[in-house]
Amino acid sequence: MNNEEKKLPVRDVRLVSTGSFVPSRVLTNQDLEKMVDTSDEWILTRTGIKERRIAEPNQAASDLAEPAARRALQRAGIDPKDLDAIIVASVTGDHWFPSTACLLQARLGPSKAFCFDVMAGCSGFLYACQTARGLIASHVAETILVVGVEMLTKITDWQDRQTCILFGDAAGAAVLRPGDEKHRILGLYLGADGTNAGLIEQPAGGSRLPITPEVLEQRQQYIHMKGNEVFRLGVRGMEVVCRTVLQSTGISGEEITLLIPHQANMRIIEATAKRLNIPPERVYCNIHKYGNTSSASVPLAFDEALAEGRVREGDLVLMVVFGAGLTWGASLIRW
Ligand code: ACO
Repeated sequence: MNNEEKKLPVRDVRLVSTGSFVPSRVLTNQDLEKMVDTSDEWILTRTGIKERRIAEPNQAASDLAEPAARRALQRAGIDPKDLDAIIVASVTGDHWFPSTACLLQARLGPSKAFCFDVMAGCSGFLYACQTARGLIASHVAETILVVGVEMLTKITDWQDRQTCILFGDAAGAAVLRPGDEKHRILGLYLGADGTNAGLIEQPAGGSRLPITPEVLEQRQQYIHMKGNEVFRLGVRGMEVVCRTVLQSTGISGEEITLLIPHQANMRIIEATAKRLNIPPERVYCNIHKYGNTSSASVPLAFDEALAEGRVREGDLVLMVVFGAGLTWGASLIRW
């Protein structure tokens, strides 16, 4: 940053548009009944999930990210060549490296954007938004594409009934630009607790536990989760970070038009909304259709809420996320 840039005032940032994409293949609870010892009734009452979308074997994260990104760019009226940065949030990118953001850039066409991935589990989308917001507020960038994309079904243990019923594949995207008119981000807060990193993890595949035949035998390449503890910490974490955003903006839970929570478990969503005094009719849920799509969950839900007319100009939209790390975050937008 040069001296001239240092003198520029911090700018407000807007979430200009959204886009999303899900694979066409549907896996229902009835399908899962044939794969593991479970039932539609157990899954529905414990999680709220009826079905989820599953990517094809030959599909990777960038295959979902591209159509979601194109939709968000088209709605914003932005040509990919005018992007200053592309940030992809994912724990299931096409490869460990290069970044999925770089692969996405190549697919979108000629570009001057700098590109990188952010890894924050299910909280990834808001982590990426906060990064983009800082870059725009400080005049490093004007226009940033943020994508949350996940293919957790590729790292799911289909023999583990505690986790395989939860996840689905999807992508959600947003375009961020400077400005204090409509769609302004009023507040965005993040948090993390690395002391609980072991509660949701993919133990093998990194430098700690490289893939070996023994590791594969022990199924360490798949997601491992202590669901009960994540549940408890998730409810608490989402409440606290929402309160932080609300207090910082002077807005109460009662004033929120629509809460868009991470779609991990219907019971977590209901408990969080109750603690914030937000009635069920002002909480957006699509978990029954998609399950937990991790970093794609909130942008996918936001995109669907907009398409359904659930968000109108001037509305106060509160997004909240929680996931592996542990990580969490919340953001308030005046639409
Ligand atoms: N079908 C039938 N029974 C099952 C299943 C299943 N699919 N899974 C577990 N059970 C059984 C258990 O074995 C246990 O039986 P037992 O009492 O005989 O021992 C019983 O059901 C209760 O199991 P719990 O694990 O206590 O069930 P719980 O009500 O906690 O629900 C769940 C489990 C759905 C995983 C829940 O804990 C949850 O949603 N946790 C949060 C997950 C989450 O939010 N993750 C977020 C991030 S993911 C990421 O970042 C990648």
